[in-house]
Amino acid sequence: MANLIIIGAQWGDEGKGKIVDLLAEQVNCVVRFQGGNNAGHTIVVDGRKFILHLIPSGILHPGKMCLIGNGVVVDPAVLVEEMDGLLRGGLPVSPQNLMISRHAHLIMPYHQALDLARESKKGKAKIGTTGRGIGPCYEDRAGRTGIRVHDLFDESLFRQKLAQNLEEKNFMLQQFFGAEPLALEPIADQYLALGQRLQPFAGNVSQYLDRIMGTGRHVLFEGAQGTHLDIDHGTYPFVTSSNTVAGHACCGAGVGPTRIDAVLGVIKAYTTRVGGGPFTTELQDSTGEYIQERGGEFGATTGRPRRCGWLDMMVVRSSVRLNGLAGLIMTKLDVLTGIPALKVAVAYECDGDRPETMPNELRSLEACGPIYEEFPGWEEDIRGVRRFADLPGNAQNYLRAVEEMAGVPLAIVSVGPGRDENIILQHPFADR
Ligand code: IMP
Repeated sequence: MANLIIIGAQWGDEGKGKIVDLLAEQVNCVVRFQGGNNAGHTIVVDGRKFILHLIPSGILHPGKMCLIGNGVVVDPAVLVEEMDGLLRGGLPVSPQNLMISRHAHLIMPYHQALDLARESKKGKAKIGTTGRGIGPCYEDRAGRTGIRVHDLFDESLFRQKLAQNLEEKNFMLQQFFGAEPLALEPIADQYLALGQRLQPFAGNVSQYLDRIMGTGRHVLFEGAQGTHLDIDHGTYPFVTSSNTVAGHACCGAGVGPTRIDAVLGVIKAYTTRVGGGPFTTELQDSTGEYIQERGGEFGATTGRPRRCGWLDMMVVRSSVRLNGLAGLIMTKLDVLTGIPALKVAVAYECDGDRPETMPNELRSLEACGPIYEEFPGWEEDIRGVRRFADLPGNAQNYLRAVEEMAGVPLAIVSVGPGRDENIILQHPFADR
């Protein structure tokens, strides 16, 4: 497999960063294609912890080109801060290993202000966004009023677009939300200075990818969030504002679908969700707390505790369909150690019906309850295990059952946060 898409197959936070970091070894290039700094990867390398929000985790590998595609919404202050953090940690960041699409849209301070104001006005009905301005930025992109990376390099055009936007956004902020208006000058000064810093990194990501794919080099497309947070296919309106499914990797990076060789989905050994919205297998008991505690289930971006629950095969099977998954990668199997009996939702019961697939319309999904199958757990510490055959029998049975119910094989099982804490069943690049 030369060009591979990795996406989250649940509600985000599946551990994609660790997996992309692992697979980056085998590719020349890693590309982000949607989302923004609502994402957050925590990666542990040689005991050092790195948290990345925008820059693909491939940056932790020497000699890998990391690209931020046109489909990503970029907060330039966050990006520059992240670049500086990596430089301080002794990692190289230069136009030799980082390119940002000139066409990516910029998250502006009014996007963040509107995101926060809207959430607070919604009260109990809030989405539970990360408050980073992601939704309002994508709204402007669709509304053709967005400001893109290349606009930072033309001062008069940038000021003109900013003034036009501020006129409308300040009206909304003041008149509708009762919030403070924003002043033009400080934003212009800050963004134009950031633009100078970013200009050497700005390029045409689509052309770059076309060129390197044409010479047989390998590309990894790194999804952010998860399939069920997809704006179209997720649990709307409790979703993010971009398409998170694999099909969008092509749009968000500027490559044709015929260039993609395979898609793998990352799942946790259980399920988590941050923010509002239905969660059929949610656990609100001591087992949920055990998983949250052992799994360190607190957001890398906002620090919010993640809601935890059993693995849900309705969720996973929908992801197999929506993304055309060739296989699964399971993370955090070690977190389940010590739970005597593991439940897995194998189907739903909805008003006397058993739907064939997971309903993604809110009312229908809210009406569903899980139908569980129970699997005996294991007590042994599995973090040192590197071969499937060395796992406790009950862990092997759990994994085999997941494969069978998903209808696709497991490629990798992660048993700890470290780079080497994995069981490789079928290496995604084995048949390169
Ligand atoms: P937004 O993307 O900040 O607009 O948030 C919309 C919804 O997506 C909220 O429920 C967030 O908690 C969720 N969300 C956004 N990014 C992530 C992520 O990286 N992991 C998990 N949930 C996320």
